[in-house]
Amino acid sequence: MSHFPIEQFEGVATPFYYYDVALLRRTLDSVCATRPADSIVHYALKANSNPRLLRMIAHAGLGADCVSGGEIAIAVECGFEPRKIVYSGVGKTDDEIRLALSVGIDCFNVESLAELEVINALAGDMGKTAPVAIRVNPHIDAHTHHYITTGLSENKFGIDISQLFDVIGQIHRMANVRFRGLHFHIGSQITSMQPYEQLCSTIAQLQAELDARGIDIDYINVGGGLGVNYEAPDEHLIPDFGAYFSVFERNIHLRKGQTLHFEPGRSIVCQCGTLISRVLYVKAGLNKKFAIVDAGMTDLMRPALYQALHKIENITSQSALYAYDVVGPICESSDSFGSDVMLCEAHRGDYIAIRSAGAYGESMASRYNSRHLPGVLLSE
Ligand SMILES: Cc1ncc(COP(=O)(O)O)c(C=O)c1O
Repeated sequence: MSHFPIEQFEGVATPFYYYDVALLRRTLDSVCATRPADSIVHYALKANSNPRLLRMIAHAGLGADCVSGGEIAIAVECGFEPRKIVYSGVGKTDDEIRLALSVGIDCFNVESLAELEVINALAGDMGKTAPVAIRVNPHIDAHTHHYITTGLSENKFGIDISQLFDVIGQIHRMANVRFRGLHFHIGSQITSMQPYEQLCSTIAQLQAELDARGIDIDYINVGGGLGVNYEAPDEHLIPDFGAYFSVFERNIHLRKGQTLHFEPGRSIVCQCGTLISRVLYVKAGLNKKFAIVDAGMTDLMRPALYQALHKIENITSQSALYAYDVVGPICESSDSFGSDVMLCEAHRGDYIAIRSAGAYGESMASRYNSRHLPGVLLSE
């Protein structure tokens, strides 16, 4: 059983997110030690925008990948340098674009020609030039859950690779945008390096075509997506960033002046976060036993949204294991964290740890059923 400082939990209202700050620090050290030269790692705030974690990530020197004006504002507030902030998203509003321009971000990752025209017009009104990259949809299957695959032709994201050079031609006719390069993001929770190898070969082909057409770029952004081990978190607390980065280092040959950009989210914060809840009731059904806990899909939406698996432990008890359906209090049948989960015998009041919850946990929490948002406790 994993070790949690239960004595620190006494008196803290459940459910709450417990963040292991030392693990986050070690994870950031690993990113910084293994990232390729000539690269910038932009942390994807959507995974977790808790200000205390953001300050640590900014302090480690990472940049930020934002998908809203709110994320840009909080990134700046928490110490990310504007020149290391990139801005993605299919539906940027005029106010958000103006905010990004006034902050002076590094690059807009642009998802459509219509968006480019609006950025060009707004930048013109503000007397600025907007740095832009085109998000290319490369038709690569990341073999991940269909809700989090983004690089297939039927996804809403990016500009189809077949339209890329037409769009670049149009950018060159726009007075207030500067074309910097290409952006990709093929999906999330990717556990094989093969889709990334495929992405590198697409990038190599596009670099050759850009060279042949005499188009210079200085920005190649390969997005995020590196997966984590949800089944056995303790065996892989820190994802293998070395193996991940080396795929790009080996397969992408940067031209002079080009920088490689990464946008990892999940892989940085996932394992340092645990959702701590308590057993409210144990109920014997006809065929099943239910452990009804005080956390619900409003606190951690991934199981309800993606049928995602999280390791669940009773960290109060060390008794024999029994099978439970671990369910929350929300009035939805999808409010379940797992079926037939083997837990040490559960009693009212026991602490239940839902592991690997640092990414897309707190940041997706909602107030559905007029519930409180989950609390937060940092290990130090
Ligand atoms: C454009 C973009 N970049 C980066 C990320 C971060 O992905 P992950 O958390 O899987 O690393 C996402 C996630 O959806 C994204 O849409």
